[in-house]
Amino acid sequence: MLVVVTGSSGRLGRSLSTGLAASGHTVVGVDRTPAALEGVDERTLDVSDARATGALLESLRPDAVVHLAGIAVPFGAPERELLVTNTSLAHTVFDAAARAGVRRVLAASSPTVIGYGAPTWRAADVPIDETHPTQPAHAYALSKHVIEEAVRMFARTTSGVYGFFRPCYVISPEEWRGAPTQQGHTVAERLADPGLAAVSLFNYVDARDVASFVDAWLAAPADAVDGEGFFVGAADALAERPVADLWREYAPALGAGADALVGTSPVFSIDKAADRLGWRPQRDWRSELAAAGAALATATSAAAAGAPDAQSAASGAATTTGSRAS
Ligand SMILES: NC(=O)c1ccc[n+]([C@@H]2O[C@H](COP(=O)([O-])OP(=O)(O)OC[C@H]3O[C@@H](n4cnc5c(N)ncnc54)[C@H](O)[C@@H]3O)[C@@H](O)[C@H]2O)c1
Repeated sequence: MLVVVTGSSGRLGRSLSTGLAASGHTVVGVDRTPAALEGVDERTLDVSDARATGALLESLRPDAVVHLAGIAVPFGAPERELLVTNTSLAHTVFDAAARAGVRRVLAASSPTVIGYGAPTWRAADVPIDETHPTQPAHAYALSKHVIEEAVRMFARTTSGVYGFFRPCYVISPEEWRGAPTQQGHTVAERLADPGLAAVSLFNYVDARDVASFVDAWLAAPADAVDGEGFFVGAADALAERPVADLWREYAPALGAGADALVGTSPVFSIDKAADRLGWRPQRDWRSELAAAGAALATATSAAAAGAPDAQSAASGAATTTGSRAS
């Protein structure tokens, strides 16, 4: 398929774009700044420019658009600006896609639409699945709620297939190797202090697993995905101890329903994506941290032996690589 990805230079967009290209799709990445992505045709464009966005999609006539561009974190801008920016970017892209006859459009929403983080919020049920009520508590979550409704509107009113997904806390490949994650902490710090990951109810997902989800979504029968949303998360919790042992101290809003979580099972159910798309994540924090540690040890011992490439790999492994304060 010819797939346009907006926000292709971002934390998620980079892995998503290169992952789709590696799966055999022709990928055009659209962002305000390019990221030199392997195998991706990158176009520099601000998608708030409706005319330019329409012209690009009209000229490319892609099979699919995956819309990620926006302000990607709660309170990442003043509340009104965040709401207006995210919702108008989404509507601009959806409308341009409909006019260009794009058959499939998938937009990034967020688990925050259900409302956790607000002092009075309580989980309706655990594990949390797509039937959980949405109760946005800030402009970022509200923008995602509006985007989900816009998806449903375009699904109802156009011939295209429109859907959304709610990626859990995205961890990109360099973040397993020590770069700061979205909230500024490393993965190791989030594991060492359960209070850090409790803010997002211990959820996470590897960015490359999101790419495989999108690949499965693009191939799914229309009636399995049109107007539908999916949680996209890892198959376990980002915690060294079971959530059933942690929730009372760190995430009381989960309530006693969290006692039903067995072992390291996640708070967010990914059964809908498994049932409808046959998608399962392939990576978890234990295996990815072990692999990153092994690679660092190899690079360090090679550096000690004097190999110049290994010296830069070892020193670069724990530095920030393109992370944003989003
Ligand atoms: N990272 C997460 O943990 C997470 C979790 C849930 C949902 N999401 C959603 O996934 C999407 C991607 O998140 P991310 O973490 O990669 O964000 P990011 O901030 O790293 O990347 C967003 C990208 O969009 C681009 N962009 C913003 N406005 C643009 C515009 N007007 N025109 C063109 N490009 C523009 C930015 O330049 C940036 O490269 C967002 O919609 C975000 O809300 C992310």
